[in-house]
Amino acid sequence: MKDFAGKVAFITGGASGAGLGQAKVFSEAGCKVVIVDIRKDHLDEAMAYFKDKKAEVHAIQLDLTDRKAYMEAADEVEKVYGGPPQLLFNTAGVNTFGPAEASTFEDYDWVLGVDLGGVINGMVTFVPRMIQSGRPGHICTVSSWGGFMASPGCTPYSVAKAGVDMLMECYYTALKPYNIGVTCLCPTNINSNIGEAVYTRPEHLKNTGYNVNEETINVLRSIHAQGMDPVELALKLKKGIEDEVLFVLPFTDDPEQTMKEHCDTLMNYVTAEGMKRLEEQQKKRMEEMAKNRDMSPYRDSESGFGKARTDLTWVKNRQGAE
Ligand code: NAI
Repeated sequence: MKDFAGKVAFITGGASGAGLGQAKVFSEAGCKVVIVDIRKDHLDEAMAYFKDKKAEVHAIQLDLTDRKAYMEAADEVEKVYGGPPQLLFNTAGVNTFGPAEASTFEDYDWVLGVDLGGVINGMVTFVPRMIQSGRPGHICTVSSWGGFMASPGCTPYSVAKAGVDMLMECYYTALKPYNIGVTCLCPTNINSNIGEAVYTRPEHLKNTGYNVNEETINVLRSIHAQGMDPVELALKLKKGIEDEVLFVLPFTDDPEQTMKEHCDTLMNYVTAEGMKRLEEQQKKRMEEMAKNRDMSPYRDSESGFGKARTDLTWVKNRQGAE
């Protein structure tokens, strides 16, 4: 898709971070934008911005994991704009950090529920409506480079994002005959509010195995403050949509080489020699990390970022153990 003027764009997580960047860029490109978010304060702030700009933006407060409410939101879009969106952005997501071995059922249920389940809900809600409308369309999902790189410090997130990558690859092929494109954005660090995602964690899924408190939230905020600007990110996504690229890797100028290096790493997993090579590489990486520890933003953190809850005495403290 190259012409965005007059198209309806439905953006989950559209009131903050990457989603807000998309709302700004695609509204500038002439889209009628619907921003959807669980946080009313984020929606109010974003709407104040768009009101100032006199942009055509409609806000809906929605928890993506609520399927009935999602269907109602889709009905609302059809009522307001006379049809389903031609552009769907599955952008909302959450994250939380801690050792894989400390993860609770609730850590999995919350992160997978929003990051994978929320995207599935978007696809099941909108794909039939988009096909039925008979118009060309494009679906973008924000995954993460973490969906390709296994991160034992945020396992539910890596699992959800790997699932999203596969989901999008399947839909890419399935939707081609309907003239609906699919693009999956795989960023690294973004300057966003995801560090405080835990504020939206529902009460019945509060039981976590990770150490989460105001200090660890502040550490995350300081890390994300150094991330890519959401508007710059959205412009890279727009180029990916125009070029009809399935996986957009916005953090590299040479995505083929980056993916090739990743595939080379995966290839090591299938032989004993490869596993030895990997071990050597990992040893070197750990030595490098130990050297750089003084520069780490969480070096002074007493409670520790990415650690287990302190009462889980059976979980070895990975950072302290090195
Ligand atoms: P953000 O926190 O600034 O924006 C996400 C928005 O989603 C928030 O406004 C939040 O209220 C909303 N949200 C959370 N749960 C929701 C739910 N159940 N229903 C509806 N809305 C919900 O974070 P960011 O970073 O802009 O996140 C956007 C996407 O980017 C996510 O999918 C995230 O996984 C992905 N990503 C983020 C990276 C980062 O470094 N921040 C890196 C790679 C990917």
